[in-house]
Amino acid sequence: QNNLPNTFTDPETGIIFNTWGLPNGAPQTQGGYTFGMALPEDAFSTDATEFIGYLQCAAKDAQGWCGVSLGGSMTNSLLIAAWPHEDTVYTSLRFATGYAMPDIYAGDAKITQISSSINSTHFTLIFRCENCLKWNHNGLSGGQSTTNNFMILGWVQAFPSPGNPTCPDQITLEQHDNGMGIWGAVLDGNVANPSYTAWAAQATKTVT
Ligand code: HEM
Repeated sequence: QNNLPNTFTDPETGIIFNTWGLPNGAPQTQGGYTFGMALPEDAFSTDATEFIGYLQCAAKDAQGWCGVSLGGSMTNSLLIAAWPHEDTVYTSLRFATGYAMPDIYAGDAKITQISSSINSTHFTLIFRCENCLKWNHNGLSGGQSTTNNFMILGWVQAFPSPGNPTCPDQITLEQHDNGMGIWGAVLDGNVANPSYTAWAAQATKTVT
């Protein structure tokens, strides 16, 4: 996983992301994994509470799921799980206090989608994540400070699809089996953009 970010511009929406990932062919995970983030213009001077996220994950024949830990570790961090099903990419906000099936996150974070796509090898989701950079799960709190220009994040991928895939609150998961890790994500100037507000306004699709 790279620490210094790459800059990626999504061709469809024009959204500019800092991205970190593992290329297809990397030994840590089959198929590769990319997470990206875009932040409000003032994120280096005032801690942002939200971001626009980019996830491109491996999925053979649209099977599998992936995730990101917004605090790095699986435990005591806000987790986002994502998976494809038919023509939809679903997400679930989760929180784990141990290395077992995470609970439904009890805080007020919210995901709305900007775009998604699924092909025979990968799925991609661009989403707005509001109230996602500080978390509070029944009193267990934490978060990220965008003014630090640095975040510890975690990634995970799995081959089997979730059970109950069309109902994010009721998914069942097996322990992930296609790699996981923690990385230090350095943010550079391309992550914070004056167009953030206009990009975030494109997040109009709620998938529940
Ligand atoms: C690590 C179990 C779901 C994210 C781990 C580890 C275990 C585990 C045992 C440590 C493995 C090791 O160090 O060798 C499980 C089980 C799950 C589950 C049983 C569900 C049934 C999830 C989900 C996410 C996630 C939904 C995120 C969306 C991570 C991350 C790590 C990890 C980022 C690496 C960082 C760390 O060790 O804390 N998981 N997990 N896991 N898990 Fe999970």
